[in-house]
Amino acid sequence: TKGAAMVTAVASRVQAQRKQIDEVLALFGLAHEQLVGVQHKMRAELEYGLKRKTHPLATVKMLATYVCGMPDGTEKGKFLALDLGGTNFRVLLVKIRSGRKSVRMYNKIFAIPLEIMQGTGEELFDHIVQCIADFLDYMGLKGARLPLGFTFSFPCRQKSIDKGTLIEWTKGFKATDCEGEDVVDMLREAIKRRNEFDLDIVAVVNDTVGTMMTCGYEDPNCEIGLIAGTGSNMCYMEEMRNIELVEGDKGKMCINTEWGGFGDNGCIDDIRTQYDKEVDEGSLNPGKQRYEKMTSGMYLGEIVRQILIDLTKQGLLFRGQISERLRTRGIFETKFLSQIESDRLALLQVRRILQQLGLDSTCEDSIVVKEVCGAVSRRAAQLCGAGLAAVVEKRREDQGLEHLRITVGVDGTLYKLHPHFSRILQETVKELAPQCDVTFMLSEDGSGKGAALITAVAKRL
Ligand code: GLC
Repeated sequence: TKGAAMVTAVASRVQAQRKQIDEVLALFGLAHEQLVGVQHKMRAELEYGLKRKTHPLATVKMLATYVCGMPDGTEKGKFLALDLGGTNFRVLLVKIRSGRKSVRMYNKIFAIPLEIMQGTGEELFDHIVQCIADFLDYMGLKGARLPLGFTFSFPCRQKSIDKGTLIEWTKGFKATDCEGEDVVDMLREAIKRRNEFDLDIVAVVNDTVGTMMTCGYEDPNCEIGLIAGTGSNMCYMEEMRNIELVEGDKGKMCINTEWGGFGDNGCIDDIRTQYDKEVDEGSLNPGKQRYEKMTSGMYLGEIVRQILIDLTKQGLLFRGQISERLRTRGIFETKFLSQIESDRLALLQVRRILQQLGLDSTCEDSIVVKEVCGAVSRRAAQLCGAGLAAVVEKRREDQGLEHLRITVGVDGTLYKLHPHFSRILQETVKELAPQCDVTFMLSEDGSGKGAALITAVAKRL
């Protein structure tokens, strides 16, 4: 009959649409062999970065940090810490007491307006010093010349613990006249310009290093720091003898890998999708930080948005209508992705979130959106796991061990807020590095506490 024919027609259209959606989602599926491939390539890039000959062109920069040991519990004192480069800019006062290893912190969050993030370097550093001044006022600390640790979460070439030349901005920053300059000098000059207080800047610290140190304070097995947040990066303790660019062969030094740049030479282009390319091209630093753009909070929502636009163009979503909102960059922040993927959330609530974002969805739409988010975040966690597996395996082999036990200190909004990211990351590491027993330890405010601990150690030496 006519009715039955119509039902069949609708059913086969639905089936065809489902097939188209699945084809897009499948682009984000990574088979075991592909993950092993990523792991091996990452391993090779880590080695290139360490070797004198290949270092200048290496995409994984493997930067020396001049952090050579863990805190031993005897650190004490009052420190200031700055944290620039994550979701928020913060100024902190950190009080460390030795013996009981207790750390007390007071902090204030300040906004960094977009026009300052992307204005001139002088404006940026004047703003930072303004925030420090506010904080010192607020805490009643003006005039106390406290030692300061500066967590500056961008790639810096260091010649000592208190010097760091910004190589290039990453994430959402693009202030002019900073690349190639020493960030400590820039901070000192801004303090001088203001001429109101003095500070003793002791250390520049990457957030990964601060995170590792904070966890290392409690667990001496912690020799890796991982950030899965706005950006993606990892640091670890490397044997001095393997670090060709630094004199000396004894002991270990922490290396800031800047693995976000992995793939910038095209070595993982086989797994990048058209959506990844679109996100890259629309970013502040096209061609750069390709791995970071597939694995971190600042970009996952953008990948999702590109997929949704494409599915809508194909008539598979939102009744084929691309709304102004969907065209807007940055609408899917990590916290929304995390909510959408939460298992406790009913589909109706997913629809409500989409509504909040200004996207009118049907029930079917919300199912598809949730699937898209899942595919993108799953791939991110797996890629990150493959990278981590490369490092733990390297550490195991370098130490000639059959079996390695190691702790990874972790921080970052993606790791902390997302309902599945951390689990998939851990499963992937287990799968790819079965001879390593990897413990994940959440860092409590690594960027603040870690900077203070490093400052304390540096002061003591
Ligand atoms: C970016 C930065 C890196 C930082 C990471 C996490 O990748 O280049 O220095 O550690 O983001 O914040």
